[in-house]
Amino acid sequence: MPQNNALTYSGKTTLISGAAGGIGFALAKEFGELGMNVVIADIDEAALASAKMQLESLNINVLACKLDVTDFSQWQACVEQTIATFGMLHMLVNNAGVGGVPGKIEQADHDIWRWVIDVNLMGVVYGAQAAIPEIKRHGEGGWIVNVASMAGMMGVPYASSYSATKAAVVSMTESWAVELKSHNIQVSALCPAFVKTRIHESMRNKQDKYKSSTKSKEIAPADKDRYKKNFGQAAALVESGIAPELLAKRVVEALNSGQMYIFTHPNYKEVAGYRAVMIDKAFDDAQQSELVKHLIDDDIVSL
Ligand SMILES: NC(=O)c1ccc[n+]([C@@H]2O[C@H](COP(=O)([O-])OP(=O)(O)OC[C@H]3O[C@@H](n4cnc5c(N)ncnc54)[C@H](O)[C@@H]3O)[C@@H](O)[C@H]2O)c1
Repeated sequence: MPQNNALTYSGKTTLISGAAGGIGFALAKEFGELGMNVVIADIDEAALASAKMQLESLNINVLACKLDVTDFSQWQACVEQTIATFGMLHMLVNNAGVGGVPGKIEQADHDIWRWVIDVNLMGVVYGAQAAIPEIKRHGEGGWIVNVASMAGMMGVPYASSYSATKAAVVSMTESWAVELKSHNIQVSALCPAFVKTRIHESMRNKQDKYKSSTKSKEIAPADKDRYKKNFGQAAALVESGIAPELLAKRVVEALNSGQMYIFTHPNYKEVAGYRAVMIDKAFDDAQQSELVKHLIDDDIVSL
């Protein structure tokens, strides 16, 4: 089976959601400089136009598509435009994402949860459904890069909607990696810790359809202070993050060595490994249990 190594990028086409800025733009530039045709798709039309100009000034072949990832028909239109412009699609980068509002679960707004789920989870599902038939069609193989987060490896307190959607992205990646292997489509989950972008300002991208109940709810003055404090802490962490350009180079390096989980922060090994340690302990506990220890030698029903 052919490997998707660096030599194969040139002349192929990538479609990147949320590519008008931040990580998506850095990936567009990196893959464009490797000779790929780049389709940048984003909800922010002004930023998209500026990103297109910047990429064109680097002699990168670029198509800009207006895309709200929560709308499957817009994904389909984007993929159609990609094929009409470049003939084939080889890589999907499901990058668009939003941070939600940090805070306690019992105080969380349902509209904010739905927004985070629709963008971070359903947006990835819709992207895959629109792109996979085209990536399969030409038979040359390809890549799907789902942008998850270190938060998908271990739930982050006071950020449960974000963590839940990123864990789902990791999980979907594991499923699709098996489903698409025979088509030589490499599926990876990118799991960065902090990267210096505008993710802490993602309320700027919240669509009107999620605003109704938030608008009608008066935020108490004490809550306003809490929101300000929580957003301030998130902003400081993001500001301390690595440069998106470094992350983009690391993504290519990891894709070239066929990684399913792409890690950008080796210093987070213990954080990500905590779940594995706890799972190990929980299995030890079950093996000691008088109730269920007799199952230890039973055959495993394969999934
Ligand atoms: N920055 C970090 O520290 C960090 C860490 C881990 C994971 N991530 C993930 O990286 C991805 C990119 O985020 P970023 O850090 O570059 O943030 P960013 O806010 O700088 O960029 C996000 C981009 O997505 C676009 N977008 C937002 N909602 C959209 C929608 N509904 N449809 C289409 N486009 C939409 C925005 O316009 C923007 O261009 C996200 O999935 C995020 O969760 C970021």
